[in-house]
This record gives sequence, C-alpha cells and structure tokens, in this order.
Amino acid sequence: MQHLERDVVIVGAGATGLTAAVQLQRSGLSVIVLEARDRVGGRLWTDRIDGQLYEIGGQWVSPDQTALLETLDELNLQTYERYRDGDSVYIGADGVARRFTGDIFPASEHTKAEIERLIVTLDALVAEIDPAAPWKHPHAAEFDHVSFRSWLEQQSDDAEARENIALFIADAMLTKPAHSFSLLQALLMAASAGSFSHLVDADFILDRRVIGGLQQVPLTLAGQLSPDDLRLGQPVRRIRWSNAALPDDAVEGEPVEVVTDDLTVTARRVIVAVPPNLQNRIEYAPPLPRLRQQSQQHQSLGLVIKVHASYETPFWREDGLSATAFSPYQVVHEAYDNTNFGETRGTLVGFVSDEKADRLLALPAAERRQRILSSLAAYYGERALDPVVYFESDWAAEEWTQGAYAASFDLGGLTRYGALQLEPVGPLRFGSSDVAAEGYQHVDGAIRVGRRLAEETVASLRHVNEEVSV
Ligand code: FDA
Repeated sequence: MQHLERDVVIVGAGATGLTAAVQLQRSGLSVIVLEARDRVGGRLWTDRIDGQLYEIGGQWVSPDQTALLETLDELNLQTYERYRDGDSVYIGADGVARRFTGDIFPASEHTKAEIERLIVTLDALVAEIDPAAPWKHPHAAEFDHVSFRSWLEQQSDDAEARENIALFIADAMLTKPAHSFSLLQALLMAASAGSFSHLVDADFILDRRVIGGLQQVPLTLAGQLSPDDLRLGQPVRRIRWSNAALPDDAVEGEPVEVVTDDLTVTARRVIVAVPPNLQNRIEYAPPLPRLRQQSQQHQSLGLVIKVHASYETPFWREDGLSATAFSPYQVVHEAYDNTNFGETRGTLVGFVSDEKADRLLALPAAERRQRILSSLAAYYGERALDPVVYFESDWAAEEWTQGAYAASFDLGGLTRYGALQLEPVGPLRFGSSDVAAEGYQHVDGAIRVGRRLAEETVASLRHVNEEVSV
C-alpha cells in the first residue's frame, strides 16, 4: 500500500472530475484523481470497432452548451455540423413511413394540432422553472407527485400526440418510461436545455460533433495533470472523513483518508465526481447522514442502447433523406446520420430506450441485431439491413456506470431530496452531470458541476488557509 498526501482527492476521471482537478491545480492546490477504469472519460468514450471510429458514449454539442463550447475552445478542439440536408422520416401509429421537414411530425391534422398545443403548454411551464432549484416552483410538490404520462393523459385525448411528446423526454432524454418519473423531472430536463422546444428541435439539441470525438475533452484535460496525479484502475473503496463514529459528531478540519486497493491518500477535501447511483459503492466512515443515504436510493440511471451501423456509402443521402427519423412505435425511436468528419463511409446512429431495451436485451445478440436493423430499414429501406460494421453500446453492463445516459429521481424524489444532493458532507463534495442545472445529463452540465465543485472547495479551504490563490 502506497501512502500519498494531497490537498484534494478527486474520485472519478469523467468530465466533472477532470474539470475540477485542472481548475484546482490552477488554483495552486495539489490534487490526485483516482479512476476505477483503465481509461479516462467515464461516459465519454471514442473508440474503433472493427476499424470504424465510433462515439460509444456522449457526442453532440448544442449552441446553448456554453461551458462545453468554452472548454472546446480552450482545448483547441474543432467541431462540425451534423448532416441534416433532406427530408426526415416519421412512422406513426399506422406503421407508414412518411417524409417531412421541420419539427412537427406528419400525423393527422388533429394530432399535429395537439402536438403543437402541448409544446406551447410545456414551454410556458418550463419558462417558470429554475433548473438550479426546480423544487422552489410554487407548484413543485404537485408537479412532482404526478407522472409525466398521467399528466399528458390529463392534457390530451390524442394518444399519438401524447406518445410523441413523451418521446422527447422519456425515450430521448431520461431514457425511462414516462410513467416512472414526474412532470417536475420532465420540466427540469427541458429547463436545463432552455425550453421544451429545444428538445423537439433535433437541429438545435444535436447540432455539432467534435472532430476526432468528444472523449478528447477528458483526454486533453487529463494531459494537464502529471502521471502521479492521475491514477487509473484505482476504484475508491473507502473514505474515512472523520474519526467520529456518527456523522453528527464529525469535527471540522480533520484530514480525510481515501483508500483504493493499492493507495491510501490523505487529503483536506474530497470531490466524489461519480454518478449518484455509484456513490454507495464506496464505504464511508462514519456513514453518510441518513437522508443522503436515502437520497441515493431514489436516483437511478436510465437505460438506452446506442446503435451504430456503417455502410460503404451514406446511401440515404442519394434518396434525399437527412437520416433524421422518429417513431414512438418503432424499436429504434430516433435515428440520425452519424457519419464522421471527412469519411466516405456512411454511419447511422439509432437509440433503443427503456422497456424496449429490456425486451431486446433479453434476446440472443443475433436476433437483437436483426430487430434493430429491421427498424432502421423501416425508416431508410432495405439497404439498411446490411451494414459493414455494426455496434451496440451497452452501458448498463458497465460496472462503473450501470446505465445511460444519466440519473433522474423517481416520483416525488426531486422535491424531497433535490436540494440536499448539492450540500457538502463535512469535507466531502459530490457531483456529476446528473446533478447539474443548465446542461443536466450532458457534458456541458458535467463541466459546470466540475467548476462549481472546484470553486466551493477552494472557498472552503480559503476559509482555513489564506495561501490558496483563487
Ligand atoms: P462520468 O460517469 O462520465 O464519470 C464518472 C467517473 O467516475 C467514471 O470514469 C467512473 O469510472 C468513475 N468512478 C465511478 N465510481 C468510482 C469509484 N468508486 N472510484 C473511482 N472512480 C469511480 N452528453 C452530451 O452532452 N451529448 C451527448 O450526445 C450525449 N450522449 C450520450 C450517449 C451515451 C450512450 C451516454 C452513456 C451518455 C451520453 N451523454 C451525452 C451524457 C454524458 O456523456 C454524461 O453526462 C457525462 O459524460 C457525465 O460526466 P461525469 O464526469 O459527470 O460522469
């Protein structure tokens, strides 16, 4: 066992942890990042599969994600626009594939009018929500006690309109069924992206990609730390944050001890930059306060299979299709052109969420692949059935993530525990994109949370040590 000392230990080398680490280092503090995996990036992972470069995790950047855009600029990373020329495809309840342009799906006139009305209603509600404190809305409790699905049922008698509106939050963002999270959680999701309309507008929310892949953000940040200060393959097992037996008896200023299988690091502060569902994999001494232990049990990750299929050419473009496709009735509820910058091969990306993912994951791999490719063929024709490379991202099987894209509360959890999750526990601070306000669930949010945790840590140390420079 090696013994080290630092001012701050950061647990987790995702975008949150590495943003915090680099900022703390710039403030003159000594840091160490301890990462469980043998790579940095967490939910950002760009890799070659059968020679083809894929974004296995997060990839898109939207214009409102200013923290991420600033970081890309600082790190000198270039972006390019998602391919979007041509018609989109929608498959409605009748199973017919129809081409359209713009944001409103080509359903019946009544359904289209209902979709537009629900978007206006949701935009108005979202405008009242502070993404940093949704629990402060005057009707927060009421909104947090009703499921998004039940609320939609109260709003409209048009099932296809409801399914489509649910798709933008349930299948496409929280990746959970609309009956399992509250209206308030849905409003937070939309408020964190600026409006509900932004989620409907694929050209806004899925605007740009990073040339070479978004994992370059954590990789480049990691390059600013010395090898001594970033240790891979070091799951943190235990954090002793006070010698007291009970959290209430902890004394301020005691050193913290962070233990992996090989290292013990003594520090003054710890940032646990892991998603809420993994905080409990660490043993704390003394245990965390009771409500923190409760809170963690009400936040869970969604489930989505991200599928890539590459073809010798982007054949859909010849047919005048952008490849943007939606259907609440298809296994793949949304799909896009995901061709890499400068490549002649064409790549499609599609998503299979929540209960549809459960059903497909229960099938043998070959049957799952066939069902997914058939769903792509329903949008783009038979040529989609024969990719040269095919890959399914399986984040639920990843021990150090356990789902995708991010965490959300169950019914009533946001008002009960939302504010609490932002509070430090003695010398410990917790955070990840899952607790962000703007950029919630996104890399932008991870960067914002990383910056906030670094600022709070510096401020808390300045309190005891005037030498910290920021
Ligand atoms: P993250 O989970 O990345 O990092 C936490 C780190 O902690 C991990 O590296 C983990 O291994 C480590 N860890 C956990 N427990 C540990 C322990 N006990 N000890 C040591 N280390 C530990 N976002 C976006 O902006 N645009 C997009 O297009 C997408 N798309 C998308 C697709 C898919 C498939 C996924 C999975 C995710 C996205 N996202 C996204 C979401 C985005 O990737 C995500 O919000 C951020 O990368 C999260 O960064 P964090 O650092 O907060 O957590």
